Amino acid sequence: MSEVVEAGVETFQQTAAAQGVAIRRDVDPEIELLLERSRIERVVMNLVGNAIEAMPGGGEIVIRSIQSGSPNGDVELEVADNSPGIPPELRSQLFQPFATYGKKNGSGLGLALSRQAVLDHGGDVWAVDKQPPGAVFRIRLPRQPANAI
Ligand SMILES: Nc1ncnc2c1ncn2[C@@H]1O[C@H](COP(=O)(O)OP(=O)(O)O)[C@@H](O)[C@H]1O
Ligand SMILES: [Mg+2]
Repeated sequence: MSEVVEAGVETFQQTAAAQGVAIRRDVDPEIELLLERSRIERVVMNLVGNAIEAMPGGGEIVIRSIQSGSPNGDVELEVADNSPGIPPELRSQLFQPFATYGKKNGSGLGLALSRQAVLDHGGDVWAVDKQPPGAVFRIRLPRQPANAI
């Protein structure tokens, strides 16, 4: 998991630094999952890329793994930022294709494709309901995918 996160973050390291966005990671190095690596890396890239785009004046992104109760429980990965937050008009269709807001060249496909990748792994991704500021996304992935990839 931590390697997938590092790979996903790496692409944005320079852009983030130049924009004054700090990317903090707190991912348990013990977490190992059977997954389609490149697809989940792209999910991390999408979430980090969106967070950076939402903080043109700088800010902070925190990526952390969340322990579930049992050792065989699902794994959760959280990507949180301190952007102004998810536009309210977008909330209900956030993960729909072509749902984009506030960008010159947004395709609106990042979250839709990310969601499909996570669903294909038997997991789920959602935006945590919270008051602005800040956006928080969580990905849940099963330790043992039902239909091993
Ligand atoms: N971290 C975030 N903070 C604020 N808004 C966000 C964040 N992530 C996504 N969004 C909103 O969700 C929209 C959809 O994201 P996405 O599917 O990746 O499409 P795109 O980035 O091409 O617009 C974005 O246009 C943006 O308005
Ligand atoms: Mg995007």
